[in-house]
Amino acid sequence: MKTFKHKTILITGASSGIGEAMTYQLIDPTVKLVLVGRSEEKLRAMVAVLEARGTWAQAYVADLSKPGAAEELFRRLSEDGYRVDVLINNAGAGKYGRFDTISLEETLAMLRLNLENLVALTHLCIPHMLKRGDAGILNVASTAGFQGIPYMAVYAATKSFVIAFSEALHAEYADKGITVTCLCPGPTATAFQERAGMPVKGLRRFMESPEKVAIAGLRALLRGEVLHISGTPNALTAWLSQLAPRRMRLAVTRRLLGGAEDT
Ligand SMILES: NC(=O)c1ccc[n+]([C@@H]2O[C@H](COP(=O)([O-])OP(=O)(O)OC[C@H]3O[C@@H](n4cnc5c(N)ncnc54)[C@H](OP(=O)(O)O)[C@@H]3O)[C@@H](O)[C@H]2O)c1
Repeated sequence: MKTFKHKTILITGASSGIGEAMTYQLIDPTVKLVLVGRSEEKLRAMVAVLEARGTWAQAYVADLSKPGAAEELFRRLSEDGYRVDVLINNAGAGKYGRFDTISLEETLAMLRLNLENLVALTHLCIPHMLKRGDAGILNVASTAGFQGIPYMAVYAATKSFVIAFSEALHAEYADKGITVTCLCPGPTATAFQERAGMPVKGLRRFMESPEKVAIAGLRALLRGEVLHISGTPNALTAWLSQLAPRRMRLAVTRRLLGGAEDT
């Protein structure tokens, strides 16, 4: 896929952070932007800004941590006549803490948001993409998906899934007119850490801006990359850490994030 022009683009998690930054990068009079999230007021305010800047946009309020949320969203989109040409699976959330201290309810909600509804939305959108050709899927994973992350165990595992899932789909659809790209941001200055209850001390100076991450991800999709790690320091760290023994990697990460044991 070489351009976003004349495409209907669905962005999950458009209401803040990386998804919001991507939305504003996609301003263009030829596209239709479909914004998804739970924050209705914020999404409506964004639609007003986009329309004032000549870009067609519509907001859909959906809680993607609920069972069946993707099917319900897709049904509403279809009824309103939308056919998604570019799917940006960006919505996601983490939860910091030792595994047993995070409620099962929160854990399962995270799986539904980060995995189940991402897979379902992708499955539902692909038939139209195959018919149309010249389509794209951008899945937002994380550098956390390259290894187990103590105190973010389930979150990191969901991102490992997204990486493996995206890579496989890239290979299945590359010659069928659908580009599938996985974006792996490192620490990014958004609401993510606060929402996850993560300690951020020492992390802030390594954080990229959501705008930088958004631009990197959208470019990677247009270039047809399989996987893109945003930011050279993140790419280097990810590459170097693969050379270290697993036990050592885990020990270092545990020390960095181990504050959960002190609380
Ligand atoms: N920030 C980082 O350091 C970092 C690093 C690597 C990867 N990532 C990934 O980047 C993606 C975007 O996160 P961000 O950093 O931009 O964080 P963010 O500012 O918290 O944004 C998360 C977005 O996801 C949406 N969302 C959360 N729960 C949802 C739900 N139940 N249903 C529907 N939408 C929901 C939020 O919208 P509502 O609240 O309106 O629902 C919001 O628009 C996530 O997949 C995250 O895992 C972030």
